[in-house]
Amino acid sequence: MRLTLTDYLAKHSASEGLTDVVTRMAETCAVISRAVAAGAIADQLGSAGQENVQQEEQKQLDVITNDLLLDAYAATPWVAGVASEEMETFVASSVTPNDGAFLVLFDPLDGSSNVDVNVSVGTIFSVLPSPAAGRALVEADFLQPGRAQIASGYALYGPQTMLVLTLGRGVVGFTLDPASGAWRLTHDAMTIPRATKEFAINMSNMRHWAPPIRGYIEDCLAGETGPRGKNYNMRWIASMVADVHRILVRGGVFLYPADARDPSKPGKLRLMYEGAPMALLVEQAGGRATDVTTDILDIVPTGLHQRIAVVLGSAEEVERVLAAG
Ligand code: AHG
Ligand code: MN
Ligand code: MN
Repeated sequence: MRLTLTDYLAKHSASEGLTDVVTRMAETCAVISRAVAAGAIADQLGSAGQENVQQEEQKQLDVITNDLLLDAYAATPWVAGVASEEMETFVASSVTPNDGAFLVLFDPLDGSSNVDVNVSVGTIFSVLPSPAAGRALVEADFLQPGRAQIASGYALYGPQTMLVLTLGRGVVGFTLDPASGAWRLTHDAMTIPRATKEFAINMSNMRHWAPPIRGYIEDCLAGETGPRGKNYNMRWIASMVADVHRILVRGGVFLYPADARDPSKPGKLRLMYEGAPMALLVEQAGGRATDVTTDILDIVPTGLHQRIAVVLGSAEEVERVLAAG
């Protein structure tokens, strides 16, 4: 019989608090999976008719999933506060405002532009230690580099619903058993091969890229007779969770570089809710993750909604991008 998530957490001696935090996340992701699957039946597709803190249109399901996660952590003594891509400021716990051991950060619905067209979406999460014991939580408490994460992971709502998790000792994947509702360990010791022939980038932005990124992709596109000496394949799902999941399963490189469209935005993806949690998974699986100057896990955040460039995946390709720039 395959291990359940509960068995796995016990086997790896996760503390009572961390077990509570991860279990709540998994239970909520199972609920989110049903909300996403109900789609038009529940009248939950389409826009919520408002923008989030990043001036992005919110889908109804962005709001619904954010509320589900807020509820999940509202009444646990282990969590001092939460922060979300969808909310301007963090929310401190009302139960134990001054002594929860953990902070939980999430992108409640990643790839939400895909939800109306029935393409895979996900939830990304990050767990940090709370430095605020004995005093009120402040925003600066969340601004810890990714290396401080105690755990991170994502749920992927695809043909299968999966939970991919790291507690800082390798990466494992669980599949939600639709018959029993249990999360079962199906992907042990997920590793990213060093070499790949697959890249993921939104090519429509090519004209905005800096020369090193453009040069790297041109070399890939040149194929067998070009400098890389092999033919590449391309995928772009526009759900980071789904693109990163493919890389964790069969390798590849994912790039969302900074570009010249809006100089005020150094990249599109968010450090706290996308970059750092995915970088921990990727490094734990033997890959690399950089913003092209610094390993993403070493970036000291300056704000909850900070954006960064992201290049992650198979080490050989990430190193090639670094060498180009
Ligand atoms: P979100 O839906 O949480 O805002 O994230 C979407 C992100 C990421 O999942 C994806 O890789 C990227 O945006 C796609 O961007 P483009 O539409 O610019 O390709
Ligand atoms: Mn996202
Ligand atoms: Mn999102």
